[in-house]
Amino acid sequence: MITLRTHSIVVCSLLLFYLMISFCFAQQNIRKRNFVIMKGRRILPSNTKIMTKIVQSYMACAALCSKQETCCYASHDSNTHRCDLDVSCCPQSEPLLGAIMFRILSVSLSCQSGWHKFGNNCYYISNVTKSWNDAEVTCKQNGSMLAEVKSSCENDFLKTKVNGSLEYWIGGTDIQNENLWIWSSSETKLTFFDWSPAQPNNYYGDQHCLEFNYKSAWNDKECALLRPFICEKSLLQ
Ligand SMILES: *[C@@H]1O[C@H](CO)[C@@H](O)[C@H](O)[C@H]1NC(C)=O
Ligand SMILES: *[C@@H]1O[C@H](CO)[C@@H](O)[C@H](O)[C@H]1NC(C)=O
Ligand SMILES: *[C@@H]1O[C@H](CO)[C@@H](O)[C@H](O)[C@H]1NC(C)=O
Repeated sequence: MITLRTHSIVVCSLLLFYLMISFCFAQQNIRKRNFVIMKGRRILPSNTKIMTKIVQSYMACAALCSKQETCCYASHDSNTHRCDLDVSCCPQSEPLLGAIMFRILSVSLSCQSGWHKFGNNCYYISNVTKSWNDAEVTCKQNGSMLAEVKSSCENDFLKTKVNGSLEYWIGGTDIQNENLWIWSSSETKLTFFDWSPAQPNNYYGDQHCLEFNYKSAWNDKECALLRPFICEKSLLQ
């Protein structure tokens, strides 16, 4: 009886020791790969997904992401063992018990000087003023487009980069169909909005271009007005 109990204590201690060791190694592996971890969330499937694979551990999932140059976020569900990789650095996510999300911190690609890097994109904040159309042409001449702000984290990032007392042109317009806002370069409908209260109001029926940082939010404005502007280009082209 006594022997048996001693034996199980030894087994338990060994098991505990093993678990502690593997936990430490797990932490170390993740840190080496420069991930930021969010527990209890997983990425929702979207058109920015790279792949879904069944892998046993979240470390294997993190390793998959770090091998993919375009991977910015990954999530692993410990119940289904599903690993999702996503190019977006602002993916839609949901709470899920036992899931874990990782954001890769250092991607090897970098932006040219004067451009700000966020996720897999580079942004240029102009300090000359142009009409919305001329701003769009200028961005295109530099191999970029007027910025398309598609998530709150991209929106928040750009707010920290602009001069807080100026309004900037970004790529949204409803010039073709009143109140149907599209991103002009990708020709996709806006799905994320940050309109200022009571905007867009199409004041005097002539406001069809998207002004960023109007009262720290978005506004519709006359396209011919001169504004500084924000260009965006992907690092992955
Ligand atoms: C405008 O931007 C250019 C390029 O980033 C910079 O060299 C110049 O100093 C800026 N001018 C002003 C007035 O901020
Ligand atoms: C835009 O393109 C022009 C011509 O290629 C180049 O001289 C200029 O430096 C570029 N501007 C930026 C901000 O990259
Ligand atoms: C922001 O813009 C205002 C108005 O043009 C200007 O006076 C100020 O110097 C700018 N601030 C910075 C940090 O560039």
